Amino acid sequence: MRMRAQPGLTFDDVLLVPRHSSIASRSDVSTRTTLVPELELAIPILSANMDTVTEARMAIAMARVGGLGVIHRFMTVERQAAEVARVKRAEGYVVEQPVTIRPQATVAEARQLMAEAEVGGLMVVDEAHRLLGVLTRRDVLLAEAGDSVREVMTPSDKLVSVAPGVDLGEARRLLHAHRLEKLPLVDDEGRLCGLITAQDIVKLERYPNATKDAKGRLRVGAAVGARRSDMERAAACLEAGADLLVVDIAHGHSENCMAMVRRLKERFPDTPVMAGNVATPEGVRDLAQAGADAVKVGVGAGSICITRVVTGFGVPQLMAILDCAEAARSLAVPLIADGGIRNSGDLVKALAAGASAVMIGGLLAGTDEAPGATVIREGRKVKIVRGMASLTANVDRRLIERGAELEPEDWQQVVPEGVEAVVPYRGAVADLMHQLVGGLRSGMSYAGAESLEMLWERAEFLRITPAGMRESGPHDVTPLG
Ligand code: XMP
Repeated sequence: MRMRAQPGLTFDDVLLVPRHSSIASRSDVSTRTTLVPELELAIPILSANMDTVTEARMAIAMARVGGLGVIHRFMTVERQAAEVARVKRAEGYVVEQPVTIRPQATVAEARQLMAEAEVGGLMVVDEAHRLLGVLTRRDVLLAEAGDSVREVMTPSDKLVSVAPGVDLGEARRLLHAHRLEKLPLVDDEGRLCGLITAQDIVKLERYPNATKDAKGRLRVGAAVGARRSDMERAAACLEAGADLLVVDIAHGHSENCMAMVRRLKERFPDTPVMAGNVATPEGVRDLAQAGADAVKVGVGAGSICITRVVTGFGVPQLMAILDCAEAARSLAVPLIADGGIRNSGDLVKALAAGASAVMIGGLLAGTDEAPGATVIREGRKVKIVRGMASLTANVDRRLIERGAELEPEDWQQVVPEGVEAVVPYRGAVADLMHQLVGGLRSGMSYAGAESLEMLWERAEFLRITPAGMRESGPHDVTPLG
């Protein structure tokens, strides 16, 4: 047994000391970060791979503002891959595989397909994938359910289409000149090769900081576990277009996790892999040596975690980041601080301590884009959040894995390391991100740091006492609301 001399500090135990600053405006700082080689983010924030936080809707919102969502893995492989595909389809300069329908299908079938695929138009093709026409929501609005698609579509001889490879400017000009919403891409043989929509061009201009791949599609991460069967999950998510795999297990400094990282890097050498969670420099080193391109740090810090209560293990989050940052820097692997972020002050402290980005769960669980409905509790709007090791998440996972309900006696076998809870409703992700990033920019100007690298260099932490802590919040007044 040994006892460390230093106390384990976390966010509320410290403040950052203001430094001389020549930054005139908060807009002069850059919050850009490199998450893994070749994946840069305009804002250093990831949404957590939890089933009450990140599915496609959250990932789309996060990527649009310049962050990244990691789709959780507590669902079937097929569903997770479909969530990834939804993000990749949400935007892009060219929709590579537009949703298609046959001319003999009925209007009722077309309506159902539009609803399922969440698209406003279908490309009508024959068996050889030749474009026969386009069917939009307007075409089916008042049509009879039994009418055939062929009867109500706009046939291809009345359509404007272009060859694949058209540049963005020309596509924009054609869409505007003909007041079109959809511009199909068709090869010499008349085969459908893609689609450019006016909506997508508008979105390109509306979200200038969006996290995008080379084809203009939003980027997205996918979580996998460390079992051998998770290789198939990884393969399906990559096939659907995932840009990053996140091996996410509670104790990341384990042979299981390292073996999984090795297997992934062997089979998919070009795919970036983030792995965790660890809380020590040795953990960072071992995962980096196994091939991880980024390492996630945080054990027991999450808002819904009870790992420390149940097992006695964990490291207060600020200490874990500070401890791991040097190892991460010397190995050139970005460190992602996961868990415990409650406000923009915590975000600034986590980054200043050496993180390249943070992962957020509970704070985002209250937004519109998080899965689940809003409910009223004691007169206030709230949303549900749960730890992925909570009792109900364990039960649901076994249901997904075994395809059968658990017997009541099996419930008692579960030893949860997370809880179910409610969080206040927080509105749109974009508004919450605006507040968090605004606080970060302001924090960077207090440090005189124009970039995150400068923030690491210039940060000076100061331990505070409970009296200092009390002084930091509103005091001797009665806050409204
Ligand atoms: P926040 O504080 O942002 O933390 O809600 C999110 C992170 O918490 C971790 N997580 C868990 N940890 N038991 C745990 O000990 C759990 O059931 C659990 N579920 C999530 C995870 O790292 C997440 O990103």
